[in-house]
Amino acid sequence: MKITVVGAGVVGLTTAAGFADLGHFVHCADIDTAKIASLSRGIVPYHEAGLESIVTRNVSAGRLSFGHDPSKALAESEMTFLAVGTPSEDSGEMALGALWSVVDRFEPWTDKGRRVVVIKSTVPIGTAERAEARLRARLPENCEVDVASIPEFMREGSAVRDFFEPTRIVIGTASPETAERLTLLHQRLPGPIMSTDRRSAELAKLAANACLAVKISFANEIAALAEQTGADYPSVAHSLGLDPRIGPHFLAAGLGFGGSCLSKDTRALVRIADEAGAPQTVVEAAVRANAMLPLRMVRKLEAALTDPSRRKVALLGLAFKPGTDDVREAPSLRLIAELKRRHPGIAISAYDPGANAAARKLVPSGVEICESAEEALKGADAAIVVTEWREFRQIKAHDFKNWMNRPIIMDGRNALDAAALNAQGVVCIGVGRLPAA
Ligand code: UGA
Repeated sequence: MKITVVGAGVVGLTTAAGFADLGHFVHCADIDTAKIASLSRGIVPYHEAGLESIVTRNVSAGRLSFGHDPSKALAESEMTFLAVGTPSEDSGEMALGALWSVVDRFEPWTDKGRRVVVIKSTVPIGTAERAEARLRARLPENCEVDVASIPEFMREGSAVRDFFEPTRIVIGTASPETAERLTLLHQRLPGPIMSTDRRSAELAKLAANACLAVKISFANEIAALAEQTGADYPSVAHSLGLDPRIGPHFLAAGLGFGGSCLSKDTRALVRIADEAGAPQTVVEAAVRANAMLPLRMVRKLEAALTDPSRRKVALLGLAFKPGTDDVREAPSLRLIAELKRRHPGIAISAYDPGANAAARKLVPSGVEICESAEEALKGADAAIVVTEWREFRQIKAHDFKNWMNRPIIMDGRNALDAAALNAQGVVCIGVGRLPAA
């Protein structure tokens, strides 16, 4: 089948390369000419495990090509997937400008084939219907087009695995024929396929991210309660996870959720729900609880370190999660802002194994971005583990003691072996756990 994917971000490019790998002929278009130039040379300009090799393999096999003009997508392919960004506006509303500009550029075609446009981008409820109405109003009558919603649930860092082993494929359509065609297209993927209407598919995506956000904020509030009452949150989480009705995932307490998706989608859901007259008070509270976590961490640091304004603090990790080079909406940025707000004189060094380059563009001036954990920790009076990269688990107690001015570690992700470090003279304070006696 001939497919066009518009948008070469993690979702778009993984979808394009994935379908090419399944044997389809895929053209991937993105207005970012630098990105397309890089992809045409087989180089993926961001870190996503395994993606570059399937891109290269399929470009070489002639099944995957790149370009920057999506206008002929409908004319030249049977199915067009839209995976453009829908970033947050200040109001929390999702900006659909990129989506409409693509939809409004599609040119008509002359053969009789009915085209299918699939919205993969996360969008407000009703967007697929609006897109279809917009296309039908502009295109000549002989150009038949259906717009479907197939939301994407892949995660950054494991996008390729999630494409080939999806938890579910939700196909939202208004026509049984289109549902049938899309089911056939996805048939070789192992996840369960469910068919529904377009609005339910769109809400299913927003609800999934909101549910994950709620779970994380719940975990963080119970962890705070554990700290206040002398309980051990990891044991509590373990027990919760053994209940199949709750499940073990997304119960890790720490500095909270970041990344462009959970933050943006929860804000959008709250706004959409307010407008629809069905307020999402639980999600709203989860967003508020998440925003309070950096202050909580700074307060804990203040309890462990006198006069932080005159000290140097090292941040281990800047990416919103390990395995990515993405610092969008990362807890590290909120933490830096909070540290500087409460302690204007504080010196901050930081190191991330994968996201230093991206972080340089976003962290405020004055934060020293270092090339290694050792460089960041040298002379620091305390360190905060912000992202749970494996590399940080390998730092030995004697390294912390040798490199740092004072070996005080605030483990914001419960990533280190606190008991072992404490036993060797490093103060390691986790989340939801009592500090060592
Ligand atoms: C999230 C969803 O998990 C995907 O299903 C969805 O497709 C994607 O958003 C999207 O909408 O595009 P992603 O943003 O890649 O994926 O990251 P997650 O793995 O969900 O992690 C989000 C944040 O939650 C990270 O900052 C992570 O550190 C934090 N987190 C996760 C916790 O604080 N505790 C946990 O137990 C789990």
